[in-house]
Amino acid sequence: MKLLIINGPNLNLLGLREPTIYGDRNYDALVKYVKECADAHGVQTEFFQSNHEGAIVDAIQQAYGRIDGIVINPAAYTHTSVAILDALKAVQIPTVEVHLSKVSEREAFRQISYVSYYAEKTITGMGFEGYKVAVDYLCEKYC
Ligand code: DQA
Repeated sequence: MKLLIINGPNLNLLGLREPTIYGDRNYDALVKYVKECADAHGVQTEFFQSNHEGAIVDAIQQAYGRIDGIVINPAAYTHTSVAILDALKAVQIPTVEVHLSKVSEREAFRQISYVSYYAEKTITGMGFEGYKVAVDYLCEKYC
C-alpha cells in the first residue's frame, strides 16, 4: 500500500506562517511525523507540496494506478478549486481531507470546501495529529 500526502499553498511555510493558527513546527517536521505514522502501519508514503493549483492537479492525475490512498490539505485551494475536486473524482482514489486549523470557526470564505464533495472524511482542528487520523483511517480501511 502506498499513500500520497499532498499539501497545498503556503504549507511549505509552516512554522513561520501564523504560528498561533498553524503551530510552530515546520513542513519538514510534518513530513517526518506523517512518515512515522505510515511506517507504523508498514505503509509507503510519497509527499508532494506545491503552491500551484495545476501542479496539484498533475500530482493527483499521476497518482492513478500507483497510489492507494490520498491525504490532502489543499490549503487555500480548498475553498476555490473545482479543478482539484475534478481530478480527485477522475482518479477515484480513496481520499481524506485534512486541515490543521478548525476551519469551521474561521472566516466565512473558508466555509466551503470543494474537496469535501469527494473526500471520504474531513479532519480539522487537530494540527499535525489530523494527518495521523487520516493515515490510520486509510490504512485500517484499505490495507
Ligand atoms: C488550512 C486552512 C485553509 O483555510 C488555509 O487557506 C490554509 C490552511 C489548514 O490547514 O487549516 O492554508 O487548510
